[in-house]
Amino acid sequence: MSHHENNPVIYLKDYLPPAFLADKVELTFDLYPNQTRVKSAIYFTRNEKRESGLPLELHGADLKLISLSLDGQSVSDDRYVLSDDQLVITEVPDRFLFEAEVEIDPANNTSLEGLYRSNTMFCTQCEAEGFRKITYYPDRPDVMSSFTTTVIADKTEYPVLLSNGNPVDKGELDNNRHFVTWQDPFHKPAYLFALVAGDLKLVKDSFTTMSGREVALEIWVEPENLSKCDHAMLSLKNAMKWDEEVYGREYDLDIYMIVAVNDFNMGAMENKGLNIFNSSCVLARADTATDMAFQRIEGVVAHEYFHNWSGNRVTCRDWFQLSLKEGFTVYRDQCFSADMNDAAVKRIEDVSMLRTAQFAEDAGPTAHPVRPDHFIEISNFYTLTIYEKGSEVVRMIANLLGPDLFRKGSDLYFERHDGQAVTVEDFVAAMSEVSGIDFEQFMRWYSQAGTPQLDVSDHYDAETKQYHLTIRQMTPVTKDQQDKLPLHIPVKTGLLNTDGQDIPLILVQGEASGQQGDTDRVLHLREAEQTFIFDQIPDAPVPSLLRGFSAPVKLSFPYSQQQLLHLMRHDSDGFNRWDAGQRLAVDALQTMVSEFESGRVPELDSGLVEAWRNLLGSDLSPAILAEMLSLPEEAYLGEQYDVIPVDGIHACRRIARKTLAQALESELRTCLETHQLSGPYKPDADDIGKRRLNNTCLSYLMTLETAEITERVWQQFNQADNMTDQQAALTMLVHSGQDEKAREALEQFEQQWQQDALVMDMWFQVQARRPQPDALARVKALMSHPGFSLKNPNKVRSLVGAYCGQNRVNFHGLDGHSYRFLADVVLELDQMNPQIASRLITPLTRWQKFDAKRQQMMQTELQRIAQAELSNDLYEVISKALP
Ligand code: PHE
Ligand code: ZN
Repeated sequence: MSHHENNPVIYLKDYLPPAFLADKVELTFDLYPNQTRVKSAIYFTRNEKRESGLPLELHGADLKLISLSLDGQSVSDDRYVLSDDQLVITEVPDRFLFEAEVEIDPANNTSLEGLYRSNTMFCTQCEAEGFRKITYYPDRPDVMSSFTTTVIADKTEYPVLLSNGNPVDKGELDNNRHFVTWQDPFHKPAYLFALVAGDLKLVKDSFTTMSGREVALEIWVEPENLSKCDHAMLSLKNAMKWDEEVYGREYDLDIYMIVAVNDFNMGAMENKGLNIFNSSCVLARADTATDMAFQRIEGVVAHEYFHNWSGNRVTCRDWFQLSLKEGFTVYRDQCFSADMNDAAVKRIEDVSMLRTAQFAEDAGPTAHPVRPDHFIEISNFYTLTIYEKGSEVVRMIANLLGPDLFRKGSDLYFERHDGQAVTVEDFVAAMSEVSGIDFEQFMRWYSQAGTPQLDVSDHYDAETKQYHLTIRQMTPVTKDQQDKLPLHIPVKTGLLNTDGQDIPLILVQGEASGQQGDTDRVLHLREAEQTFIFDQIPDAPVPSLLRGFSAPVKLSFPYSQQQLLHLMRHDSDGFNRWDAGQRLAVDALQTMVSEFESGRVPELDSGLVEAWRNLLGSDLSPAILAEMLSLPEEAYLGEQYDVIPVDGIHACRRIARKTLAQALESELRTCLETHQLSGPYKPDADDIGKRRLNNTCLSYLMTLETAEITERVWQQFNQADNMTDQQAALTMLVHSGQDEKAREALEQFEQQWQQDALVMDMWFQVQARRPQPDALARVKALMSHPGFSLKNPNKVRSLVGAYCGQNRVNFHGLDGHSYRFLADVVLELDQMNPQIASRLITPLTRWQKFDAKRQQMMQTELQRIAQAELSNDLYEVISKALP
């Protein structure tokens, strides 16, 4: 019997409240790398919501039980049953004190879940179900308790001992050991528990809350990283202020701590008062981190901070409700970043990611609703669907209510459910109550997987001066669900006249928000097919549909090239201006791919060249211009096909870039000269936009492969005072065909940065993404580089993840070697870190999108993996992905 048969599918419909509640928890950790002792004292009370007489069932995994007692009496062997994942004690009273001592082995915990070691420190990760690897406990989010934690460790090796809440006691012990006791007054589920011990250094600041309380802000890092904390600290203060101003939410403890660790499965974790972060999401300095990293840090620091209310004070009843905290919190952090930076650029970035990666997930074998109704391993559900689509669903609610009512709804939600573990229904009920809006049909967004497809057609009646928009919606069947119902879809719409101005909208058929005469209105699509009729339209208009990407759908409309050019130039909606350009580029590239596939030499449509020439001559901001000049990524282009023409897309995109560079060389050069930066590095929206634009222009010019441009890029590589420009130049050199230059640049970069693990992640990644056909050989060789380790998730992602996920033409090479390579790595990794293994396998699970030959080779590898003894994580993904 393989062990996954012990871990059956868990269903939302089977939810039952816990049989016992924990009133109070006291923990004592005696830390040793291989034999840590954990003592627990838990005050349990029978839950009145459940029947009497139920046994006490506690979760536990990889624990060695040392002792067990109830109300001070040790429990004899015949009164409890111990299995791989549970401790069950029969015949317990209605109230009692449970005490246990267990032994665990943090140094050999490579899953990075529970208590583990990262370099020389101890740290924890308990979400979702990691606390059970620390001690026996009802490890479910609807059991909330107050925690008092004493940490004991060697004073020299671990001078800093942290846990949730406030420090209340400390002292010296025998044998050079010391202790600190922490008390967290807020009731919390075990997944928010955290502990850190190490030789850490502190960056300290403070924040005065809106009611005048002073909160100590502490970022704890390894000594060499002390100079890389300023940006995270500033981001934290900005986030605290923003949440007060925009949501009326104040911080609640006297201290807020962030710890940076090198080995971490995800980005960061919102443990109460003690966030633990992947070092890549905290540490930044101008010379070591790119603009992208700076912005990610700002977003993730805010995200974890916002969880203090959306997640911690109000938490999830069960893990099926994960998007309740994640979707809402992503929406909050997206709005925060939009306010701190260029809002239109932020929206473009978020939508690009959603349309490329989440849409692919929603169309693949692991497709699931924003609120799944079953799972084997919850760790597999920290997905783009839960996070990003979940955020889009909250955004639609916010747009339906408008800012004032949305704020009222969120106030009601937080006040009503403070200290509770709740459901998606509770959130939506609060929004419905303050607005009077009926969300019954809207709730299908939470239960139905798949990306809805909207097909729009129009008709202008010159006689009646009426304009008809007919919208059909269809949600494709997903592997998990056959029957799909029509959704309530907000389609924000405007109509442009021939001068490019917005026409006042007077709707005479169909439901819409806003007033008659407004120039953009939200059409409420509810039926499978619906026609909206606009009155008093003087001439045939150009429709601007789905403004601001008002719903996470695919929308098709038979736009002519002229109409797209018109929208690109005139649309009052910045997002749709960008999107019109992207549609134009997709059309042009698809035409080229057809040519390529039929053996002809593909040529880029001159209409696109002229459109790009116009962009370069326009007065758009550098940031927007950079976005608009960028051709859609290969992955996004691939999404437009049922069978992805991998080689055609890669080749045609390269040809298109080169054609643009040749035709627009002087415009690109002028653009480069006019946006030079001066003064010290600043990661603000303006400067980021300029750097982005310059590097976009430069990388177009680099396709010309002239000695002069190469020299210019080399100069930038050598002289840049910031990592954005240095990394961009490195990428241009390494990805160009000039092998000698590439080698030289890589060597020099390695010399310069070999001591900095986060910078070396970029060095690995640049090579993993190299388009030249030797990429796989390189990646394999780099796995033996001293800076690489399969145990470190950042390294795995930078090298193997980047190669398999972002180097499409090589990963899908027709010899099938890369498929085999990924399967081998995943099988090895699954023994150490199942969560990372089951994420890494994603590219192989998407075989449906490729031609028969590739499909067959991909399936062969999946089948080979399926033969092995697998973790639940990997088993669940593989079993869904197998044909
Ligand atoms: N809850 C974390 C976040 O979104 C993500 C996370 C999940 C981290 C599981 C670790 C483990 O902010
Ligand atoms: Zn989160």
